[in-house]
Amino acid sequence: MTKSNLQLDPEGRLKHFLSIEGLRRPMLDEILDVAESFVGVGEKTVKKVPLLRGKTVVNLFFESSTRTRTTFELAAKRLSADVLNINISTSATSKGESLLDMLHNLEAMHCDMFVVRHADSGAAHFIARHVAPHISVINAGDGRHAHPTQAMLDMFTIRRHKGEFHNLRVAIVGDILHSRVARSQIHALTTLGTAEVRVIGPQTLIPQNIETLGVHVFNDMRAGLQDVDVVIMLRLQRERMAGALLPSEHEYFQLFGLTEETLAHAAPDAIVMHPGPINRGVEMASEVADGPR
Ligand code: NCD
Repeated sequence: MTKSNLQLDPEGRLKHFLSIEGLRRPMLDEILDVAESFVGVGEKTVKKVPLLRGKTVVNLFFESSTRTRTTFELAAKRLSADVLNINISTSATSKGESLLDMLHNLEAMHCDMFVVRHADSGAAHFIARHVAPHISVINAGDGRHAHPTQAMLDMFTIRRHKGEFHNLRVAIVGDILHSRVARSQIHALTTLGTAEVRVIGPQTLIPQNIETLGVHVFNDMRAGLQDVDVVIMLRLQRERMAGALLPSEHEYFQLFGLTEETLAHAAPDAIVMHPGPINRGVEMASEVADGPR
């Protein structure tokens, strides 16, 4: 079974959510439309709907995370699921239990869904291949490979602010090489029919042959930002950089930092996004991070 169809059941419905790659536009539109119907839930006095009542969701986080773990936990609770948070570094796998034995144990407790964050690319696919048939797996970020839920949240934000994708120029700026978020965003944006997707960054932080994904590459910040409608900034993923890919953070900011001055090259009503965590003064000036865009 290939990576891309592992997530679909024989009827073509989403069984696991592992990557955007391999999904077709109607599926992405449907996810965005369903999300739209839940927008009001967090703003009500009673922040709950019964969609997942009786279901048990397990957050399996092998890599530390605060924002992603808490947002998954909150989402599951607001949909009325029971939620278990398992921090793997302190769990039985550190006592020598194998990952699959641990998963089978959770299956025996009748859990329904695993949300997986792992430092290795392919981890969520591996788990999806080995779980019992009644379990669904959601990839909450695997290595440098994919982060489909972050990308869908970003598509949702873009659609709400900008409407139709076929009118838009979108630039993704920074450490594309180490970014699972960027890869998923590129697949989502191109599948949704975005007019132009650009990636901007130093040559050392842009993967070889990325043009084959349908993007235009810019090594100059100002040229790349010219007339774009959406600017997506990425964090410099220092923890994933083996050698010296960058001169210094100061010089990086001079060349690729988003400031009021560089942002002025984008369309006047361009929006600025960042998946977080933000490194102020490294990829983005505080004036922009705290600004109205
Ligand atoms: C990102 C991640 O972990 O992939 N954060 C997130 O999930 N929102 C991006 C990052 O770490 O820079």
